[in-house]
Amino acid sequence: MNILLTGGAGYIGSHTAVVLAQAGHHVVLLDNLCNSQASVVTRIGRITGQAHPLEVCDVRETARVQHILRQYNIQAVVHFAGLKAVGESVQQPLAYFNANVSGAISLLEAMQAEGVRKLVFSSSATVYGQPQYLPLDEDHPTGAINPYGRTKLHIEEMLQDLAASDATWRIAILRYFNPVGAHESGLIGEDPSGTPNNLMPYIARVAAGKLPYLNVWGDDYATPDGTGVRDYIHVMDLAEGHRAALDYLNHSTLPCEVFNLGTGKGYSVLDMIQAFELATGKRIPFQVGPRRSGDVAACYADNQKAAMKLAWHAQHQLGQMCQSTWQFESGYL
Ligand code: NAD
Ligand code: UFG
Repeated sequence: MNILLTGGAGYIGSHTAVVLAQAGHHVVLLDNLCNSQASVVTRIGRITGQAHPLEVCDVRETARVQHILRQYNIQAVVHFAGLKAVGESVQQPLAYFNANVSGAISLLEAMQAEGVRKLVFSSSATVYGQPQYLPLDEDHPTGAINPYGRTKLHIEEMLQDLAASDATWRIAILRYFNPVGAHESGLIGEDPSGTPNNLMPYIARVAAGKLPYLNVWGDDYATPDGTGVRDYIHVMDLAEGHRAALDYLNHSTLPCEVFNLGTGKGYSVLDMIQAFELATGKRIPFQVGPRRSGDVAACYADNQKAAMKLAWHAQHQLGQMCQSTWQFESGYL
């Protein structure tokens, strides 16, 4: 298939581009490069041995997106493009609603106008809000607790309404748990600008000596060691989940479905420090600080639906997530 990846130069988009290209699809990347660099596309090409077009474009430029869909005869879209920093979304809610919700509306209008009806959408486990039970299955009530999460919920609701209005749509909403790690080549990975907010990139920068120690945000949660528990998933497994979802959409009879993409296993912050030290031989000094506002104690997936319907299973272990993170980070030293 000819597949357009919006936000394709970003962290998850770049890894998915590799997987889709290696599965024989033609990928076209669309990105405004607000949180990525054009050089990523060359790196993707070095891994796949192919050249992949990059259209530097904002997804809110509806007419241009429409032109790109036509120009490349696009049959399916994976929509990664958007803003994703929870704290920033609290400070700048309008920027988040504009980029994420208006961005999705613009893309969907362009797709509708061009008759493109297959879409995979990047959602997040954040839409479950405060877990009422664990593991989280797709029927768990939703309720976002910050503007970023609300943009994802609004888009999900919009996609459900769109699918209800026109049964020719084939939409897969993928709720990611905590993506970490990098491609085994070390050529692409997660490279946040400024001080990282997320645990794994922060640990990697401590290991590289760029930050002095890790702040562990709270050790008084109701978890086995008191620190927050999350479902960390290797980004290549996540990428594979998109390939499986696109294959599924080719024979699915339902216009819109939701799938969790997680491993189903929860690891604490202290587990992650220990796993990183073991996998890399690096020491990660840390200090326990107060809880971070908005954090939940534990969050991990029931991934049975993706296993059954998409025939998708996460393959990578925690050690590989840590090793590949370090390989990418140390390439930047
Ligand atoms: P990323 O920032 O690395 O990638 C997003 C890409 O979209 C960037 O390259 C950015 O330049 C581009 N972009 C942003 N706004 C755009 C716009 N208006 N038009 C065109 N391009 C635009 O983020 P990521 O981690 O790869 O996340 C991809 C998607 O997955 C996002 O929608 C994010 O909300 C979602 N998600 C990420 C995580 C995570 O922990 N990384 C978890 C759950 C969901
Ligand atoms: N943590 C620390 N110190 C840090 C960073 C994080 O102790 O410097 C802890 C957090 O308190 C939490 C765990 O590490 O217990 C994971 O935190 P992350 O920031 O890496 O991830 P979150 O689960 O908070 O959120 C991430 C994304 C969200 C997404 C969510 C679910 O940032 O956008 O996963 O997919 F919605």
